[in-house]
Amino acid sequence: VRVGVLGGTGPAGSAVALRLADAGVEVVVGSRSEERAAGVVAELVGRWPGRDLALFPGDNRTAAGADLVVLATPWEGAVGTVGELAEQLSGKILLSMVNAMVRWGDRFVPLLPPMGSVAVAVALSAPKARVAGAFHHLPAGPLADLGQALDSDVMVFAQDRATTDEVIALVEQIPGLRGLDVGGLGSALAVEALTAALVEMNRRYKARTSLKVAGIA
Ligand SMILES: NC(=O)c1ccc[n+]([C@@H]2O[C@H](COP(=O)([O-])OP(=O)(O)OC[C@H]3O[C@@H](n4cnc5c(N)ncnc54)[C@H](OP(=O)(O)O)[C@@H]3O)[C@@H](O)[C@H]2O)c1
Repeated sequence: VRVGVLGGTGPAGSAVALRLADAGVEVVVGSRSEERAAGVVAELVGRWPGRDLALFPGDNRTAAGADLVVLATPWEGAVGTVGELAEQLSGKILLSMVNAMVRWGDRFVPLLPPMGSVAVAVALSAPKARVAGAFHHLPAGPLADLGQALDSDVMVFAQDRATTDEVIALVEQIPGLRGLDVGGLGSALAVEALTAALVEMNRRYKARTSLKVAGIA
């Protein structure tokens, strides 16, 4: 599959694009500005010479033309971005990695978005897309460092089991990641909100935590 990343110029989307490309997947790094995307792709390819990364720049519309589309904008931009591309996303997996979070004093806290989660709001904005979620808890720093081995579980939810299975297969193309089915879009709120607690943990322990779930053989 060819993957497109909406908002792929940020730390999170570019890191996912990089890891997928390093695993041999073709990825379109999308942006509101094709020029910005070109800059990010040049920077990634330049930083990892000899890796033969199939990364291509494009605007978000070009990225939405891929087979599977990752949503990596801030939460405020998610519904608008997807709404403009709704027709193009029809029938495709739309994988949100978006968390809604705000700074409250000196703490990060989850924000309850309209409709209860970003993923559900996005699903209403692109009603013919097959909406899923993954990658919410992976900190962009280690993800963007190909020299660092990953060892993490990735919680995957989707509107139906077939979509979940396809997303897990994509996640597991990245060495060191195990995808776990955590249910349908009703699980999105819990998955998205948990991120704020992980960010607080990272601040408290000066760490870059990732999740490993015990008890699954
Ligand atoms: N950072 C992490 O460690 C991490 C980890 C897991 C998940 N996430 C989630 O992934 C998402 C992206 O995180 P990030 O840190 O990469 O965010 P970011 O840098 O703030 O935003 C990512 C990209 O989205 C585009 N964008 C910004 N505002 C927008 C708007 N209003 N409408 C449409 N596009 C907009 C920008 O690209 P252009 O200007 O080029 O269009 C920007 O480069 C967030 O929802 C975050 O919660 C982040």
